[in-house]
Amino acid sequence: MAPWETALWRHVTTEFHGDPDHSIHGPAHWKRVLRNGLLLATRTGADPLIVRLFAVFHDSRRINDMTDPDHGARGARYAAKLRAERMFTVSDENFALLEEACRSHTDGFHHEHPTVGTCWDADRLDLGRCGFVPDAHFMSTEFAWEIARAGSVQPFLAGVKIPVSLP
Ligand SMILES: [Fe+2]
Repeated sequence: MAPWETALWRHVTTEFHGDPDHSIHGPAHWKRVLRNGLLLATRTGADPLIVRLFAVFHDSRRINDMTDPDHGARGARYAAKLRAERMFTVSDENFALLEEACRSHTDGFHHEHPTVGTCWDADRLDLGRCGFVPDAHFMSTEFAWEIARAGSVQPFLAGVKIPVSLP
């Protein structure tokens, strides 16, 4: 993980409103979303940088672990704030994808853009932590559909080198 990304994860974790060690929507979940997203990106054509940024931002502004319908929009605004503060660099075009992925990740069903769809699928493949079995019909990408049908991401991780050391 590049130094800027390590610094970003530390910063966002420090400002997380929940308990970072125990929240089901906290950093341990973000790391699995990052892992899932980078795995999916090996086949979906998603932009890995946006996948990485989505992982750390999408649930970062939750204020509780239950119903919090505006947390995606807050996560998008928070990403814009830290981008303006130069904590990370991304083109305007790609930042628009990150905003869309964060803002709509709880409301959207399928997304046809491979990067946004990969972000949503990476999140949904971690629903097992909430006691739900990920449903293939809620996946936007064929690869995530395949993983959900298999019932576990683990067999798919074995043969793929994820180009990241998790924070
Ligand atoms: Fe999430």
